[in-house]
Amino acid sequence: MRLSVIGCGYLGAVHAAAMASIGHEVVGIDVDERKIASLSRGEAPFFEPGLTEILTEGIASGRLSFTTDMAAAAGAKVHFVGVGTPQQKDGYAADLTYVNAAIDGLLPHLSPGDIVAGKSTVPVGTAAGLAPRVHATGATLVWNPEFLREGWAVQDTIDPDRLVAGVPDADSDGEAANILREVYHPAVAKGTPFIVTDYATAELVKVAANAFLATKISFINAMAEIAEVSGADVTQLADAIGHDARIGRRFLGAGIGFGGGCLPKDIRAFSARAEELGRGESVGFLREVDAINLRRRERAVEITVSALGGAVFEKKITVLGAAFKPHSDDIRDSPALDVAVRLHGLGASVTVTDPAAIENARRAHPQLTYVEDRDEALRDADAVIVVTEWDEWRRDLSPEHASTLTAGRILVDGRNCMDAAAWRAAGWTYVGMGRP
Ligand code: UDX
Repeated sequence: MRLSVIGCGYLGAVHAAAMASIGHEVVGIDVDERKIASLSRGEAPFFEPGLTEILTEGIASGRLSFTTDMAAAAGAKVHFVGVGTPQQKDGYAADLTYVNAAIDGLLPHLSPGDIVAGKSTVPVGTAAGLAPRVHATGATLVWNPEFLREGWAVQDTIDPDRLVAGVPDADSDGEAANILREVYHPAVAKGTPFIVTDYATAELVKVAANAFLATKISFINAMAEIAEVSGADVTQLADAIGHDARIGRRFLGAGIGFGGGCLPKDIRAFSARAEELGRGESVGFLREVDAINLRRRERAVEITVSALGGAVFEKKITVLGAAFKPHSDDIRDSPALDVAVRLHGLGASVTVTDPAAIENARRAHPQLTYVEDRDEALRDADAVIVVTEWDEWRRDLSPEHASTLTAGRILVDGRNCMDAAAWRAAGWTYVGMGRP
């Protein structure tokens, strides 16, 4: 099928390449000339495992191309809209400027029978507001939210847990949904749940999923706060409650909390939208979820200061990680980098290392020292703090080896991902988050 993808950021670039990899003919469109030039050369503009391979294959096969010219969308059967919906500069609500611009730019190139499939995360009610403009061209608007995780984006796009299509009331014969079924043919063939619903439900599925995940993380971080004042161990607590299949162990990783381009902004936009709808109190707990999350960053700083005897001024601290999570170079709202910046603000001499995110981190926070080589970064440190759980230290750094490099023997584990017993046995002071 011929497809267009408007917006070639994280979501759109992966979507375009993934759709080409399952046999479609795809044009990716974006206003950013540098991004389009890079994608056209087969170079991913961000770190995402597997993306370069499918970009290169798609371009070589002739099925995948990128352009800044919106007119290239003409002739495609389905037009995916995957532009960003960032947090507004002066509030919590989502900024829909890019969504509106993408739809307006697309309208002149639509033909009757086309499908416009919105993928951006939007406040509930957005699709209903956009639909009349799209339907006036004879095309049909569907809302088809995206649930991809960074680091697993290619796999999540081709083989998702579920597919959701919000369709207009008029699509009672299911025509639009059936076209989307054809688009996602490999997933549909293997029986992936495909939920056809109305616009509002489709929009809410996405924000509800992210709100639930954020709540789960903040729940366990709240338990970490209680563990800290009662002597309990939050990791054992998570293991124990996680054995209950109704609860489940995933997303019960206590530590410095969540960040990234989605969870923080999505829960804030959800609160803002609920307030607009007169139901702010229904998701009032999301403010608490946000507050718990932000407190954990400060707590990691407090723990580090106290482990270093009450002050970090002029102490050498090596920060292991900058990305908001491993397998990503994304530093948007990264708790890891936030902790590094706070320690630097207290007068510590901070050295940051990360396998993928150094360039992005340096651009955002040039005041920190960045060292690419992990061992170089560890040299002469008075204390080490783990803030992103990359395998490069979680799995591959032994306390014996670290001891040959550092000056001090203090390990603060902001992700509870290191082997506490092994580090203690090697003579280190190990401090986790929410652990005795
Ligand atoms: C998230 C959703 O998972 C995805 O479905 C949605 O489409 C976009 O937002 P992503 O931002 O890529 O995806 O990251 P995710 O894997 O969800 O992690 C988010 C943050 O939570 C990270 O900072 C991570 O370190 C943190 N986290 C995750 C925890 O602190 N503890 C956990 O147990 C799990």
